[in-house]
Amino acid sequence: MSFDRAIKIAPSILASDFANFGAECAAVEAQGADWIHVDVMDGHFVPNITFGPDTCKAIRPHIKGVMDVHLMIAPVDPYIDAFASSGADIITAHLEAGPHIHRTLQAIRGAGVKAGLALNPGTGLDSVPHLLDMVDLVCVMTVNPGFGGQKFIHSQIEKVSALREMIGDRPIHIEIDGGVTPVTAPLVAAAGADVLVAGSAVFKGGSLSDPTPYGANIAAIRAAAEAVI
Ligand code: DX5
Ligand code: ZN
Repeated sequence: MSFDRAIKIAPSILASDFANFGAECAAVEAQGADWIHVDVMDGHFVPNITFGPDTCKAIRPHIKGVMDVHLMIAPVDPYIDAFASSGADIITAHLEAGPHIHRTLQAIRGAGVKAGLALNPGTGLDSVPHLLDMVDLVCVMTVNPGFGGQKFIHSQIEKVSALREMIGDRPIHIEIDGGVTPVTAPLVAAAGADVLVAGSAVFKGGSLSDPTPYGANIAAIRAAAEAVI
């Protein structure tokens, strides 16, 4: 199968109804979501707590497509098997989460899952060339991780362009996470991103009883991104 560099919209369930994750995942997929982005936070690596592998496992049957698990936890390695067996398609770990990101990425792939590398806004690309052979995705954080609804950090656009150049023809996705809206999506799409995570901008105005705004929101982000590529 050829590598898919088309724009993919990945709603983050961080902005959904926490009492109804399964139904929310099904609703955004029915409204056009490509991937489902699952934010795991530990109250240690980031100042907020969400949920762990058991919740991912419970959500999995409600997702038809890709379950994209973003680990904002430290340490990562003791939990890789649990997240892999929860049914994650991609597990993304932060470069900043420990001294052995190389080993962590090896362990994720070793568990039979695609490996993602996330970079905080304050982290440069210096290590990335040494890790390119072991990643399927690089996630550029365009907010400091921990909370939804924050403002997009524009200085990251330059990082996305440099990363795009570094990746060349390799089959590696560039994912953007934080503050993605129809206004910011074209900026990162033009710089070379293909996976756009969006929480607030997808779920705003909609609900399980009226999910049609989810569809309109997803379509607006996609159209704005596709218009510049
Ligand atoms: C932030 C999370 C994001 C967040 C994005 O730590 O990793 O996935 O949910 O939310 P918005 O789109 O509201 O910035
Ligand atoms: Zn995320």
